[in-house]
Amino acid sequence: MNAQQVYGSVWKTTLGQPDKITPVGLRYQPAAEAALLALAGPEVCPFAEDGITGRQTDRGYVVEIDLAADEQVYGFGLQMLSFNQRGLKKTLRVNSDPKSDLGDAHAPVPFYVTTGGYGILIDTARYMTFYAGVGRKRVDHTPELSAPIDRAALQQYGLKKLKDGPMTIEIPYATGVDIYIFGGPTLLDAVRRYNLFSGGGCLPARWGLGVWYRCRADFDQAAVGAFAKEFRSSSIPCDVIGLEPGWQTHSYSCSFVWSDKFPSPATLASELAQKHYRLNLWTHAFTHASSPIYREMLPLSGDYEVWEGLVPDFTLPEARRLMGQCYEQLHLDTGVSGYKLDECDNSDYIVPRWSFPELSRFPSGLDGEQIHSLFGLGYQEAIDAVFRRRNQRAYHGVRSSHALASPYPFVLYSDLYDHKDFIRALVNSGFSGLLWTPEVRHAESAEELIRRLQTVVFSPQALINAWYIKNPPWKQWDTQQNNADIYADNWVEVESICRDILNLRMQFVPYLYAAFYDYQVTGTPPFRALVMDYPEDESTWKIDDQYMMGDRLMVAPVVAGQTSREVYLPHGAWYDFWTNERYEGGQRVTILTPLTVIPLFVKADSVLPLAKATLHTDDPLAMCLDVRIYGDGSLPATLFEDDGTTYDYCLGQCNTVQLSWDPSTHQGRLDRLGSTTGIPQPARDARPYSITSWLAD
Ligand code: GAL
Repeated sequence: MNAQQVYGSVWKTTLGQPDKITPVGLRYQPAAEAALLALAGPEVCPFAEDGITGRQTDRGYVVEIDLAADEQVYGFGLQMLSFNQRGLKKTLRVNSDPKSDLGDAHAPVPFYVTTGGYGILIDTARYMTFYAGVGRKRVDHTPELSAPIDRAALQQYGLKKLKDGPMTIEIPYATGVDIYIFGGPTLLDAVRRYNLFSGGGCLPARWGLGVWYRCRADFDQAAVGAFAKEFRSSSIPCDVIGLEPGWQTHSYSCSFVWSDKFPSPATLASELAQKHYRLNLWTHAFTHASSPIYREMLPLSGDYEVWEGLVPDFTLPEARRLMGQCYEQLHLDTGVSGYKLDECDNSDYIVPRWSFPELSRFPSGLDGEQIHSLFGLGYQEAIDAVFRRRNQRAYHGVRSSHALASPYPFVLYSDLYDHKDFIRALVNSGFSGLLWTPEVRHAESAEELIRRLQTVVFSPQALINAWYIKNPPWKQWDTQQNNADIYADNWVEVESICRDILNLRMQFVPYLYAAFYDYQVTGTPPFRALVMDYPEDESTWKIDDQYMMGDRLMVAPVVAGQTSREVYLPHGAWYDFWTNERYEGGQRVTILTPLTVIPLFVKADSVLPLAKATLHTDDPLAMCLDVRIYGDGSLPATLFEDDGTTYDYCLGQCNTVQLSWDPSTHQGRLDRLGSTTGIPQPARDARPYSITSWLAD
């Protein structure tokens, strides 16, 4: 192995003859070089000369990477069914319904981190298999070295060693590969470094952090308008309304022709905008013959159709440009604020097999397997490039992604629906530069609806995806009855509980916005597993149902049927958000979880700002803060102020705002610290924060 330093504490080693087109080779975003260099890390590569080796086989290329016996492994993208990957075999394939724990995912990312404090990126778009220390020991062919059997003892043949062994990776068809090594010293630093190498974390438009609601597929313009009105009059917070297909027959997103159901999309967008809603469109990339870009896209597409449309080869700049330009003219210029990029994963392992087969060929020379890996991110880049050029920030949904995704303001979702798996996906997403929403659709009971809603408001995107439900789920959680307009007997009470949950989300928007700013500047994932912050603490190694949101809040969601739950509190002290009870860390506690409570714990001594609960983020009251002090308040809060909708913050038109508390005088203060350039700025666009109250014990 001959590791070259690419940036401080990031190394690259080339084994054999790598593929010509790879995720890093294709990269659309430059690395956040200055931030990478500023992040202190080891000067020497964490692997010895023989720590990473490769060999060619008839089947492809095999890589072996050292893994210590006690090292825990995390990552591989959006794994929904397992958390700690140590001892597992995972084949990373793109799959739109990943129902088994064999590695399939909407976003399989060939990146992992370990408690050894480093990360590894295997730079290929191939579907590779990881044996994460699966204890497959290679035969030692030196006869003298074979150990005698101890006949006196009832030995089990190496059963205990099943999880020993290196990380072995097999990449079919390959003749070699580039491997990137991200130094720590901690696991979290390795993740940060990977995200900065990817270009830094995304900073969504501020409105994207409000509540999202997607309407039923057959709604027309009048129905959407009526819905928008009703949400405001019944005081349900909502920032984004999403349209779902059904409104453009078979050719909706491909032809970009609005159907008769939407006689005037521009009027719809402007009426929604007047009420402070953003309009989001469902779409897919498969370009129908009726599309204005069909002819130009033809030579830039693969050799199989999907949904009667072309499959653009998004690795080609011209294909991305065409798609972006088309969306801009037909949608963005009409007032659309963002997209849900659907169907961009793979269906080779499900029925029906609607997507392009893995044996497809594309003009770039890539095959269907490789394009499946790269399709979601290429599609995101095609769309995001247009928004960046317009100096317009957004936030979107997407159903597939891959390596180097952190700079993209796109949140993954799935048609699968297990609540616990959704929570695990959220916890896992932070290892691989991904964002995930445990979206709420229907429920089996009011209890389940409430529990799911509590989880989704503590996630990157507070999304209710009612695409097959006519009325809001709090009026009736059962799909059939909902669609028959039969409301639940206690709907008023359920609606009120749900409203409170959505209000809670609105209160956390400033805190969350700051966590995203941190993501962008330092690469720290806004949502992350406890093991990222506490890798030395063995108790965190398997925790897949609790997570940090930002630096100060730990979330422990509850699923239907639970009336109490065990919560692990890492070292340090914590406060129960609801009762203010103080707990010492380093212990498991069992807490009661009445229906209206999602367990939230605040790190002791934090200053925690909560906004007024408003119906949308444009409301000036959304910038008014009630600041809570936990313990002595010695950990100040840092907020981020800018216009919330453009990229002007990159030019320094922003402030970080520090909220600090002096325990001796019992006084709080707000200081504007300017932008990262260090030059204090006047608050932008009259959207500064102000403090309504300080609340200390
Ligand atoms: C699915 C998508 C759902 C919904 C549906 C509408 O592919 O995952 O969220 O949008 O299409 O047809």
